Amino acid sequence: MNEIRRELASIISAVKTRIDLEKRFGVDTITLSKSNSEKERKIKLLEELRGEMLACHKCPLGKTRTNLVFGVGDPMAKLMFVGEAPGRDEDLQGEPFVGRAGQLLTKIIEAIGLKRSDVYIANVLKCRPPGNRNPLPEEIVLCMPYLIKQIETIQPKALCALGTFAAQTLLNTKAPVGTLRGKFHEYKGIPMMVTYHPAYLLRNPNDKAKVWDDMKKVRDFLNEL
Ligand code: URA
Repeated sequence: MNEIRRELASIISAVKTRIDLEKRFGVDTITLSKSNSEKERKIKLLEELRGEMLACHKCPLGKTRTNLVFGVGDPMAKLMFVGEAPGRDEDLQGEPFVGRAGQLLTKIIEAIGLKRSDVYIANVLKCRPPGNRNPLPEEIVLCMPYLIKQIETIQPKALCALGTFAAQTLLNTKAPVGTLRGKFHEYKGIPMMVTYHPAYLLRNPNDKAKVWDDMKKVRDFLNEL
């Protein structure tokens, strides 16, 4: 009984504090400052994670990379893209998707009415595999906890897996991207669209229409939130 009283007293006190704050600063100011502090919290967590990754030598790619390619974008993003691994341009600049495939990804993002800075972009691997070879299974296993933490921190409303490696890794499947694309799947409760990787589209421009179909589904999903 005493416990219930104490609980009630603490709820009443919290409500009083809230009403007092709203009277003094207005509801909008409080909501804004709440989302500002949420953004600061996410930025801090991501910076800590970046620090951890800078020191990571769990696989040999940490030795051969020029720069760590952590991730970029709005930590409050509703939509997060996941690619494969940094290529040459990304390795040199330390930012994901800045080469030719990246320019195409930027166009894809803009085609659904968003800016690159509205979304968050990360890769399965954070260090470039030499000569742009495919990620090795053990590299994916070792690097995966970092991507998981990024997703947990950003808490996007939707994910978009770009290409085979992102899709198969996040969905823990061996199914080919061609059969996975075009549908929402789920990664830990987050709806996840799978579509072709922009580098594949550069080689197979005839499949651009399919990616456009997939992205319209993402756009419609976000608009309905
Ligand atoms: N391809 C990817 O998968 N990621 C990048 O960052 C660049 C190219």
